[in-house]
Amino acid sequence: MTDQSKTYTLVTGASNGIGKALAESCAERGFNVLLVALPEPKLDEVTAALKAQYPNQSFDSLGSNMMDKESPQNIYDWCQTNGYQVDILINNAGLGNSGPFLSRDSSFYFGQMQLNMVALVMLTHLFLPEMKTLPKAYILNVGSMASFFDIPYKGIYSATKRFVYSFSRSLRKELEATNVGITVLCPAAVLTNPDVVQRDKEMGKASKMTQQTPKEVAEYALGRMFRGKPVAIPGFMPKAYKALGRIIPYSTQMRMLANAFIKQSR
Ligand SMILES: NC(=O)c1ccc[n+]([C@@H]2O[C@H](COP(=O)([O-])OP(=O)(O)OC[C@H]3O[C@@H](n4cnc5c(N)ncnc54)[C@H](OP(=O)(O)O)[C@@H]3O)[C@@H](O)[C@H]2O)c1
Repeated sequence: MTDQSKTYTLVTGASNGIGKALAESCAERGFNVLLVALPEPKLDEVTAALKAQYPNQSFDSLGSNMMDKESPQNIYDWCQTNGYQVDILINNAGLGNSGPFLSRDSSFYFGQMQLNMVALVMLTHLFLPEMKTLPKAYILNVGSMASFFDIPYKGIYSATKRFVYSFSRSLRKELEATNVGITVLCPAAVLTNPDVVQRDKEMGKASKMTQQTPKEVAEYALGRMFRGKPVAIPGFMPKAYKALGRIIPYSTQMRMLANAFIKQSR
C-alpha cells in the first residue's frame, strides 16, 4: 500500500462544480489534495475551507490558466519543487458551450481544445512515469455523456470529450499490466455554473431527468475508480441515454440532438 500521508491527489478545475466536489470527497476520504484552477479568489477559499475542516491533512493550491501551453509543465514543476508525490491524478478542468460553430471566434475553440484535451494529455504524460513507480496509483479523466454522441451545436465540445474517452480507454489497455488504474467519468447534466444552469433550463425535461449533484457524481466516480472500473456513468437515465444511442438510427439521433441543442444556442 502507498503511504497516503505522503502522497497527494491532484485535481484540476478544483475551485467549482464537479472538481470541487471531487476534491472535497477525496479530503473526506483522508487524502491530501492539491487543487489547481484559474487564479481566482475562489480557489483560495475552497482550499482554506478544506484546511480548516481537515487540519491533519495537507492541502495546497496553484492558480494556473490551463489554456496556456506551458501550464501542465508549470503544474508538474510546482509539485516537484514542493516534493508533492501524486498518486491520484484527476483531470477534470474543462469548458463547455453550445451554439452554431461560427458563432464563436476560432480562439475560443483553440482554448477549449487546449484545456479539454491537450492539458489533460500533457499532465498525464508528465505524471505517469512517477505514478508507475508507486505501489498503486489512479487517473480519473472527466469526459461527458457527450463522449458518446456527435452533437450539432456542440460539435467541438463533444469531439473533445470523445477524445478524452478514447484516449482513456486506449491508455487503460496499455497500462493493464501496471499498478496504474485509469477511469473515464461521463456525467450528463450537473448543475455547476450559471452557464450550465441556463443551458439545462433551455433543454427542458430531457436534461432534467439526468440531473445529478456534483457530490453524487464525485462519490460515484471515486467508487468506480477505486474498484478499477474503466468507465463511470453516474445515474440511471444517463446510462439509458447511452444505450439508446446504440439503438436509435443515426439520422434520427442527429435530428433529435440538433433539435435539442439548438435550443441552447445563444
Ligand atoms: N456540468 C456538467 O453538466 C458536465 C457534464 C458533463 C461533463 N462535464 C465536465 O466536467 C468537468 C467539470 O465541469 P463543471 O461543470 O464542474 O465545471 P465548472 O463548474 O465550470 O468548473 C470548472 C473548473 O475548472 C476551472 N477552469 C476553467 N477554465 C480553466 C482554465 N483555463 N484553467 C484552469 N482551470 C480552469 C474553473 O475555475 P474557475 O472556477 O476559476 O472558473 C473551475 O474550477 C468539465 O470537464 C466538464 O466538461 C460537466
